[in-house]
Amino acid sequence: MTNGKLRLGVNIDHVATVRNARGSAYPDPVRAAKLAEEAGADGITAHLREDRRHISDADIDGLMAALTTPLNFEMAATSEMQAIALRHKPHAVCIVPEKREERTTEGGLEVVREESRLADFIAPLREAGCRVSIFIGADQDQIEAAHRIGAQVIELHTGAYCDFHAEGRFDARDAELARLREMARFAHGLGLEVHAGHGLTFETVQPIAALPEVMELNIGHFIIGESIFSGLGPTIKEMRRLMDEARA
Ligand code: PXP
Repeated sequence: MTNGKLRLGVNIDHVATVRNARGSAYPDPVRAAKLAEEAGADGITAHLREDRRHISDADIDGLMAALTTPLNFEMAATSEMQAIALRHKPHAVCIVPEKREERTTEGGLEVVREESRLADFIAPLREAGCRVSIFIGADQDQIEAAHRIGAQVIELHTGAYCDFHAEGRFDARDAELARLREMARFAHGLGLEVHAGHGLTFETVQPIAALPEVMELNIGHFIIGESIFSGLGPTIKEMRRLMDEARA
């Protein structure tokens, strides 16, 4: 069991979503990332999607040049994205499933079915010095496969847990939380570093932050939305406070 400091990675994709809605130059996700760092973010997460619906290639250039904390580069397992990651060599690469028609990353990666392709895919990223993370559901078979292909990190998908909470389906939420707890422990036992994220809010973050094996949370949509009302710095500080309270 581990209980080290829980890191907060702030996902700034949706600053770019607002910018792109008008095709303007603002708001600038790099500026948001710098502000997030000043407010206590331990890292910045950005997802360069195949369709460039939010983050652009130029944003990744800007983040790599400006950040003082690690960049967690989320990407699909495509050769285009692999080449971009190998050019930038970010601290971490998180492999996510991506469907063009989805609104957000709907589920975890299917590792079992694509085991040998993914093993070949991540090998050069590891050789380039990136920490490779696999975004995955709370599923033992998928976690074992992520371990076999040589990933150093798994990020557990908390979307279902958050959706059940929002729908008031508390029994289902608690069952999903129990699964996340058990699979965090299982993955840690295999020697994987465990992260978690997707859909987390002030209301849902604490039970996840309290899981002792979880070392990092990546949170975006709620933080950027809440910033409209409270500002980015205060929102990040409140998220940090809730995480620390749950950890203590
Ligand atoms: N982690 C991963 C792997 C993701 O794909 C996302 C969404 O891009 C997040 C965390 C953050 O999710 P949210 O924006 O819902 O907080």
